[in-house]
Amino acid sequence: MNEIAETPKINGDFTGKDIIAINQFTPEDVDMLFKEADAMQSMLKRGETSDILAGKMIDLFFYQPSTRTVISFEKAAKKLGAAITKTSEVQYSSVSKGENLQDTMRTLESTYSDAIVLRHKEIGSATLAASKVGIPIINGGDGPGEHPTQALLDLYTIKEERGEMDNLNITFMGDLKYGRTVHSLARLTGMFGGRHSYVSPASLRLPKSIHDELDQKGVKQRETQDLSDVLADTDILYMTRVQKEYFKGIKGWFQYRKAKGLYVITPETMAEAPEGMSLMHPFPRVGEIDERVDDDLRAAYFREISHGVHLRGALLAMVLGKSLLKSNAIQAKNSSSMMKPE
Ligand code: NCD
Repeated sequence: MNEIAETPKINGDFTGKDIIAINQFTPEDVDMLFKEADAMQSMLKRGETSDILAGKMIDLFFYQPSTRTVISFEKAAKKLGAAITKTSEVQYSSVSKGENLQDTMRTLESTYSDAIVLRHKEIGSATLAASKVGIPIINGGDGPGEHPTQALLDLYTIKEERGEMDNLNITFMGDLKYGRTVHSLARLTGMFGGRHSYVSPASLRLPKSIHDELDQKGVKQRETQDLSDVLADTDILYMTRVQKEYFKGIKGWFQYRKAKGLYVITPETMAEAPEGMSLMHPFPRVGEIDERVDDDLRAAYFREISHGVHLRGALLAMVLGKSLLKSNAIQAKNSSSMMKPE
C-alpha cells in the first residue's frame, strides 16, 4: 500500500469524516457518539423509526465475510430511512475480473453513494479507499489492522453493562496478534485509565507496536498465558476467536491447530470469575465460549450485538451530518410552539 496522509481527527465534528482508526477519536468525541447511540437505542426500544437519512444511499462493500457488521449497519441505516446497496459476494462483482479497490470505490462514488462501509483483507485498505473518494469511508475491518466501529460498540456495551467506562480492569484473551477488534478496543479503552491484561499463547501476543504505543500513553499492561493469573480482578473479559484466515502454509496450519481450543470459557471458568464481571466477545465464536455460559447474566455478548445497531446507526447519522438528538429537539420545539395559544 502507498504511504498516505494520516486520517483527520474527529475533533467534535463527525460530518463528512472517514472513520478509519481509533486514533481519530478523543474521549469527548466518544461521548458525543454515545449520546447519539443512546437516542438511537431509545427510539428502537420504543419500536419507532426515523427518516433523518431519507434520500441517502449507503454502500456496504465487503471483501471478507461478515454477519454482524453488515447486518447491523444495514438495519441501522434502514431504521433511519437510508437506502442500502450491499455487495458481500465480491466474486460476482468486477473484483473477480481483477478490478482494484480504487476503481471499485470510485464506482460507488460515481453512482451517487453518500457513504461506504468497507471491509477488506488488507491492512491500510480503508485508508487507501479514503484517499481516492470524497465521500466518507467507514472501516468495517481492514485485515488484521483495525475494526473501529466494533471497538466503539464494545465500549458502548461496557458503559451500558457497568454504567461507567473509567478505570476498569480489562482482560483481552485469545488471538491478540491478528484480532483487529482487540487492536482497536485496546486503543480505545486505553483512553479511559484502568489496566489491560493480555492472555494469549506466546505465538499470538498483542503486536509489540501496539503494546509500545499504549505504554507511551501510560496504559498499565501485563501479559500472561494463564487466565487464572488475572481472572480474580477482571471487570471485563473480552474473549476472541483464533483468526484462522491469517495462518498461512504448513507452519501456519500447525500454529493454528496448537492455538485453537487452548482457551475455552466454561461454566467452571465463570464459577471462578468475579460476580460483577462482564463476558464479551465480538463473535463469531467457534468454540471459545461454551454455550452453557449463555444463560449466565454476566454473558453480555448478545446485548453487545444489539448495541451494534445502536452505535452504527448513531455513527452513520453523524457522519452524514444528521442527528436524532437534534431532530428530536426540533420536533419537541415545534410541538411545544404548536401548543402555544395565539
Ligand atoms: C470480528 C471481525 O470481523 O474482526 N467480527 C465482527 O466484526 N464482529 C471478529 C472475528 O471475526 O473474529
